[in-house]
Amino acid sequence: MIPPLILLVFVAQLVSREKDLKLRQGLNMVGISHSVYMLSWLIVATLLNIVQCTILVLTSNFYNYSWFAHTSLGIQLTLFFWLGQTTIMMGLVIATILKTEHSATMLSMMIVVNFLCFDFLFSFNDLSDALFYTIRAESNPIIETIVFFFELLPPFQFCMIFGVIAHTACNHFSSVSMNWVPGVVYDDSMWYENLHFHKESQEGGDLNVPSPSHYMNKMYMDFVLLTFMWWYLDHVLSSNRGAPHNFYFIFQKQYWQSLKPGYNPGAKLIKNKRRQVKKEDIGLGLSESQLRNSAENEMNKVIQQEEDEVPADGLRIYDIRKTYFKSPFGRPGPKDVHAVNGIFLDVAQNELLCLLGHNGAGKSTLFNMLTGMVAPTSGYAKICGLDVMENQEILRKIMGVVPQFDILWNQLTPMDHMILFSKIKGVMLGDIQSKSNELLNQVGLEDVKHA
Ligand SMILES: Nc1ncnc2c1ncn2[C@@H]1O[C@H](COP(=O)(O)OP(=O)(O)OP(=O)(O)O)[C@@H](O)[C@H]1O
Ligand SMILES: [Mg+2]
Repeated sequence: MIPPLILLVFVAQLVSREKDLKLRQGLNMVGISHSVYMLSWLIVATLLNIVQCTILVLTSNFYNYSWFAHTSLGIQLTLFFWLGQTTIMMGLVIATILKTEHSATMLSMMIVVNFLCFDFLFSFNDLSDALFYTIRAESNPIIETIVFFFELLPPFQFCMIFGVIAHTACNHFSSVSMNWVPGVVYDDSMWYENLHFHKESQEGGDLNVPSPSHYMNKMYMDFVLLTFMWWYLDHVLSSNRGAPHNFYFIFQKQYWQSLKPGYNPGAKLIKNKRRQVKKEDIGLGLSESQLRNSAENEMNKVIQQEEDEVPADGLRIYDIRKTYFKSPFGRPGPKDVHAVNGIFLDVAQNELLCLLGHNGAGKSTLFNMLTGMVAPTSGYAKICGLDVMENQEILRKIMGVVPQFDILWNQLTPMDHMILFSKIKGVMLGDIQSKSNELLNQVGLEDVKHA
């Protein structure tokens, strides 16, 4: 059971590391969609699972362990593969919920230790039989409730299937009859059969243990449930997508429409009249009161444009605010940081805007809200008529962003990075090598491009 569980720690650690180092944000900003990112992790983890599962089954059969020698290859592969898949999903859910690599690794390790305890306890099939599956236990509502919850847990399902098969396939010591029972071939037809038998020494009478297929179905169900949790939490928790979706996003028509290829809600935009940029617009040589007036004019203009429903063909920011709350669940307190405090701004298409400010003025926070990395506390912004919160995926395709942090993988060389980003940005395959060499040359990285 250990190799599949190592996958849990491995997946939780690597996925949360990418989140911690903001590599996922970086990939999103250069145009990799969230679904492609998630799918790529699922494929990588599944391939690893197939490898571990094959090695585990092959070596166990090679050494002729009686459980493996007496059970069909189909059962062995099904059981270990799906145990691996459910643990991978648990790893992905952990990495989705927790924000840092450290916390995700710690939690996944704790879960693995708990699972091993499960394995230790419940692989003694007689113990779980006696605790949960005697006729007497069946009439006890408390035990029935405990059984219901245990049966939802993949390690319990695995232990029960393994134990039920071991009951037939392995030489095992029965703690009930107190003697060694020799193992025989586990017939595939037994997979669907509940175990009913009477044990003389069993203090509760007859045993009624569900079939391995009963537990296997629960494991499939867990996989589907965990996959849904991973997908849903990835949408609603802000640490994953920056600007999170509403908790009821699945019921919003707009969400499903935005997934359709080529969907563009801003396609009907009418061209706006170009303004002449005056000195006041950029605050050149103005006194403080004139600056205030200039900002007030901009605010009134934006409010008026929104009231008149004038389409925003460039960038329009409407009373956008961001507060970093100290206490959890966004409860206001005196120590909250008001990073952006109500900005109104209208920048027409082809107009250039330069935002200057002292350290901590809120520039990065504003840009993070515009690129959908951070959700505004209130207010909104539109780019080419598209709301930055609601149409992130489309906007990322038309945006180019150079973030303040580096989007670099420790394992990749400068050339690998060039190839990766060239492919993401759609550079022609034949041009990638020459263009990358040219650019690396320009920045003096020619000598270390394969380092
Ligand atoms: N995640 C966060 N949690 C709490 N406070 C934050 C967070 N991110 C930023 N802040 C605070 O918000 C304020 C604005 O930060 P921001 O990074 O937007 O400033 P900036 O203008 O980009 O600064 P710099 O010029 O140093 O890059 C700062 O006081 C900062 O400490
Ligand atoms: Mg900054």
